[in-house]
Amino acid sequence: MTNIPLLNLKEQYKSIGSEIEQAVLDVLRSGSYILGQCGIKLEQEIAAISGCKYGIGVANGTDALVLALWALNIGPGDEVITSPFTFAATVEAITLRGATPVFVDADELTFNIDPRLIEAAITPRTKAIMPVHLYGLPADMDAIMELAERFNLKVIEDNAQAIGALYKGKPTGSFGDVACTSFYPTKNLGAAGDAGMLVTNNPETAERLKCLRAHGSKQRYFHEELGVNSRLDEIQAAVLLTKLPYLKKWNDGRQTVADMYEQAFKGVQGVVAPSIGLPGVPSSVARQLLTHVWHQYTVRVLSDQKSNANARDQMVKQLAERGIGSMCYYPVPLHVQQAFAYLGYKHGDFPVAETLANEVVSLPMYPELTNDQVNTIVATIRDVIAERAAFAPVAGATPVFTG
Ligand SMILES: Cc1ncc(COP(=O)(O)O)c(C=O)c1O
Repeated sequence: MTNIPLLNLKEQYKSIGSEIEQAVLDVLRSGSYILGQCGIKLEQEIAAISGCKYGIGVANGTDALVLALWALNIGPGDEVITSPFTFAATVEAITLRGATPVFVDADELTFNIDPRLIEAAITPRTKAIMPVHLYGLPADMDAIMELAERFNLKVIEDNAQAIGALYKGKPTGSFGDVACTSFYPTKNLGAAGDAGMLVTNNPETAERLKCLRAHGSKQRYFHEELGVNSRLDEIQAAVLLTKLPYLKKWNDGRQTVADMYEQAFKGVQGVVAPSIGLPGVPSSVARQLLTHVWHQYTVRVLSDQKSNANARDQMVKQLAERGIGSMCYYPVPLHVQQAFAYLGYKHGDFPVAETLANEVVSLPMYPELTNDQVNTIVATIRDVIAERAAFAPVAGATPVFTG
């Protein structure tokens, strides 16, 4: 019986388990458990691969987002523009700071915030834009940075899903005032628990973030301002440092799987050209200057017009019956989530996000997937499509960038 999960962290662990165990043992024996040498080294290394001078390790990616807004003095009365098609944490962070999330619809080819719609959402209260590099594909940073400059707005990059990605040859995380990443275990660089990091080129922002993450204190027991406890755990830092040298190889492995999917789906009846998996060929950016890191390999499945059933949901079910994991990230856009009902949005406000929420499905994606496994996944999807001719996976990629 086929058994190909959506993600298989045990396979990764098998390959470097002894190195990780040694690194964790070293921490346990060191007696230094929070923000020690591993934490400091990780901060330096993540800052470097993100094209920034400073890294500030924190407890998780959500805290990183909250602290980024806090350090930039964004709070009550301020508006922050972001996409409704992202993980809830992006918007949770804005709300937790007392600021108001303002949604701008997603682009249906890139799944990222549509930069062409941002300007219309800017008001005198807008303080920041928070682009998310969703699924590992950089948002259109040229267009976003041009708007930020013109309207004097801060930019906070939610880089939780895209560590190692490049936009025009520059790392995601190096464009905005601050960028936030998550090392949640399923991320491309995942800890063995929760961990997160902020990166910035601004020394004052870095200092403030260090203070805020440690109870508002630079010197122990002297509290300059209110803060929180969101420090990076040394064991997690040791795990991440052990994994970091493999990140490039792992991301390359993801690209290989993505290439296989792309080739295979080109031949699937119903796939609208250009087929799934062809990211980064905008007119303004050479493809080799846009590196997608494939945190997720996400395709769209057209809704079946003939029945009320959601074709994507049916495909997820049929793949599961055949032993293949898949998942919808994310089934309900944030503007219609109960937690954000207070914002007053309604169904129909962001049609692209709503369509994507109905149609996207992420397929197994990890560097350890074998050619045989990818071929099995593709063959199974072809079978499911053949059984239900109404299914028509459409292009989910080939982002069209403006600017
Ligand atoms: C886009 C995005 N933002 C923020 C987060 C929050 O990170 P964490 O789970 O580490 O709090 C995640 C991941 O979970 C994410 O995918």
